Order: sequence, then structure tokens, then C-alpha cells
Amino acid sequence: MSNRADKLRILIAEPSAFSEAAVRELSSFADVTLRETAQDGMRDVLESYDVVWVRLARRVRREDVPERPRAKWVVVAATGTDHLDRMALEEAGVRILSLRGERAFLETISATAELALGLLLALARRIPWAFDGVRRGAWDRDAFRGLELRGLRAGIIGFGRLGRMMARYLDAMGMEVSAYDPHAPVTAPARAAESLDALLAESDVVSLHVPLDGTTHGLIGRARFARMKRGALLVNTSRGAVIDEGALLDALRDGVLGGAALDVLADESAVSSSHALVAHAATHDNLLLTPHIGGAAHGVMQRAEEHMVRVLRRTVGGENP
Ligand code: GLV
Repeated sequence: MSNRADKLRILIAEPSAFSEAAVRELSSFADVTLRETAQDGMRDVLESYDVVWVRLARRVRREDVPERPRAKWVVVAATGTDHLDRMALEEAGVRILSLRGERAFLETISATAELALGLLLALARRIPWAFDGVRRGAWDRDAFRGLELRGLRAGIIGFGRLGRMMARYLDAMGMEVSAYDPHAPVTAPARAAESLDALLAESDVVSLHVPLDGTTHGLIGRARFARMKRGALLVNTSRGAVIDEGALLDALRDGVLGGAALDVLADESAVSSSHALVAHAATHDNLLLTPHIGGAAHGVMQRAEEHMVRVLRRTVGGENP
């Protein structure tokens, strides 16, 4: 790939604050274009670039995949790829490159687990609503009595990297930590729950750390909410569609849940003040929502982008040595 005509053409479709070091490195072996690309422009860019690099806002749905794309790779510096239609892409000869499987690198990234802990503390101690009161000039200690976490039971669903980190944090808080994962061994400081239902029935706090796929879509639905301890707290920093949002709203309205904190929604492309969960959060003190900021800590997205350049380089080098 020495002469310019042969150079790989890369389009970075969500370029805001994209790592400058990653762009420099990419430019050493490719022609790089940084251009904010609308959802309805995705088809065109798959048609005219070898590599299309997205974050989490631009999706690749079946209708975005041209029959004979120029693209060979869609790159995303994230572990979750549920916004990309893998089957449609593979049928057209396009591979997804993501952080999934980049274990050593991922072990250095804890921002999402830290946010999960922050959301739990915010929920347990009612921090956002207490602060709202102070912002309005009130100073009321009695209105915001919360939960002390020490001694309570935490249930972690999904015991991959983030579930394990969360287990360590919650153990450090003095909680009794159990975890459930049908695909990974549960290790100390967590104890393995017998089943998902058993975990839900015994936990005062539940935190979700699973990828979204066919086995986890709607995992926490009506029947599962019914099994939870009355007043339990639920934290979700994984993917919105792991929870049935209609059932969640009912659980919040009926007091089945003491509160929920979500960094993710099932459809993040359609969030507005009339979204049912957003509307509930605007008028109730039991639902805390953040806009998918788990990985959005300073430097983290940039480090992930720089790592994905290495993955891309390795892949391109391996396929075109
Ligand atoms: C973030 O949500 C990721 O999937 O890495």
C-alpha cells in the first residue's frame, strides 16, 4: 500500500473530539476523512470508503448496507456492536472490528464500572434530587433520607470485565455480592447465585453488565420484575433493550422498584422530553437517567480509538501483507 492510489480510504463518521493521535497514526497508512455523517448518509459512505469508523450514534441497519459496498471493515471503538447489523454486513463482505475480545486493553478501562457505582450511590443517597432542592434554595436534611449500602445484598448480572470490577467496588463498600453469568465463572469477592431468578429474589441492588444479544434482549421483563425484592434498586449501564422499558415503568410506578438508574435506553436515537422514561424522570424522584456516558471519560474514548487503530492495522496487514 505504498502508492497513494492504493491507499486505504477511511471515513470517520462521528469525528467530534476524535483522538488526534489516532488520526495521525491512521494517516500514516491511509487517506483519512473526518466527516460527520448523517444516518441517511451511511449507505453512501459504505459504498465509497474501505473503512467506515463509527461510534454508537450512527447505526448500520440492513437498509444502510449496499449490495456491493467498497467497505471491507466497519470499525467501532466500543465493545457493544448491537447497533450494527452484523449479518447484513457479513453477507456483503464487511467485517466489524470492535474492542470485543481485546482483553488486555479492556482490563485497563474501568470508566463504565465506575459510572455504575456512581449511579448506585446517587440512587441510594438520592443525590440528584437532594441537589435539585439545594439549587432551588432549600436545605432539607429530612427529605432525602437514603439507603446505607453496607450490609445490603448486591446482585450482579453478567460477570465479564465490568461485572467483576463492579463486584470489587461493591465488596469494598461492605455489600454482600452475588453474581449470575451463564457464560463465565463467578469468582471472589462475588458468590455465584444459583439462578437469575434466585439472584433477583435476594438482591437489594441489581446491576446489569451484559452485552445485548438474542439471549439478553428483554432479559429483565415483567415476570423478572415480579421476582425482585420490593424496593430494590436497579442500575443499567449495559444496553437499554436488556430491560423491558414498559415493565420497568410499571415497576417504578407500583413501588416494586425503589429506584432505577439507567445510562442506556432501548432507542437512544429517539430521546426527547416526551420519551416515556424521560417524562417519568422529569416528574418522579425514583428514576435517574444519563445519556450513555459510561465510556465517555476524558481520555478513555481517545485511548480506545488509538487501540482500534492498532487492531485495524493488524487486520489490514494480516489480510494485505
Ligand atoms: C459502550 O457502551 C461500549 O459498548 O463500549
